[in-house]
Amino acid sequence: MNACIRAIVRQSIYMHHEVWGIVRGYLGLIEGHRRRLGLGSVADLIKTGGTFLRTARCLPFLNEDGQEMGRDRLCDWGIDGLIVVGGDGSLRGALALHGLGVPVIGIPGSIDNDIFGTDYAIGFDTAINNVTRSMDQIRDTASSHERVFVIEVMGHTSGAIAVASGVAGGAETILIPEVPVNYEAMLTRLKHSRARGKRHSLIVVAEGAAKGEEVANFIKSKTGYEVRLSVLGHTQRGGPPTAFDRILASQLGTFAVQLLTDGRSGVMVGRQRGELTTTSLDIAVNTNKGPDLELAQLAAILAI
Ligand code: F6P
Repeated sequence: MNACIRAIVRQSIYMHHEVWGIVRGYLGLIEGHRRRLGLGSVADLIKTGGTFLRTARCLPFLNEDGQEMGRDRLCDWGIDGLIVVGGDGSLRGALALHGLGVPVIGIPGSIDNDIFGTDYAIGFDTAINNVTRSMDQIRDTASSHERVFVIEVMGHTSGAIAVASGVAGGAETILIPEVPVNYEAMLTRLKHSRARGKRHSLIVVAEGAAKGEEVANFIKSKTGYEVRLSVLGHTQRGGPPTAFDRILASQLGTFAVQLLTDGRSGVMVGRQRGELTTTSLDIAVNTNKGPDLELAQLAAILAI
């Protein structure tokens, strides 16, 4: 997010625009909190996770009254165009503002990578690298102590983090919400791998598929193996962004400024197959983007 804001600020100033940052997203818009952003305001941010503008869940923005208050605030401030960076809720808010006549461009930012219209949302690559690093570390204990580890990862209703990090971290089984959980298949796989001499297993569970604790207890009760649970939680989200995320954020941020300057509105920018693309916000928020099921299949083959 910070790398993206940096790109928006620098590209805007390069194009002679005045830039303001809204503090705490839609909440700050309703409450009237903004900051003038100059070149120096984004110095050193490229390597920092999170967003220095801060963010907040904003329930009032889910309804028309809140959205109209936001539109009115932008009018009062004399803002000509808005760039919104975020996940599903943020982009739905952007679509509403577009409907109310505000020129707006959306940028996908979510570790869940569940936004249609981009191969990667900002933050996803950093999250899967964080998870993979944790899996490497957990693997040392798993193999030394000959244990099964159940690792619960985030993703809300999406299995994208689980699939990508499961492949990168060498998981034996990956449970995701998009595929019905098959406990028997998981047990069979575990028993087969033990029978062929494997002494440890890593099982990745997407939070939307099952509770890690229940999976761990199930395995323990059915096998008697030594099982541990690791819920990675918010360690997945923070920390320095990967080079991939910094580059993506820089590209999407500058592209959004160019589009807004050209008079475009109501679209989300993305990168698909290496190309910068636009998708109508309406389509972006109303189209389902599943995880990479071929990758999930690959994980199952590689874990035999
Ligand atoms: O949408 C991003 C996400 O990290 C989800 O993967 C997770 O379920 C949720 O946010 C956690 O939200 P919070 O930080 O509000 O607990």
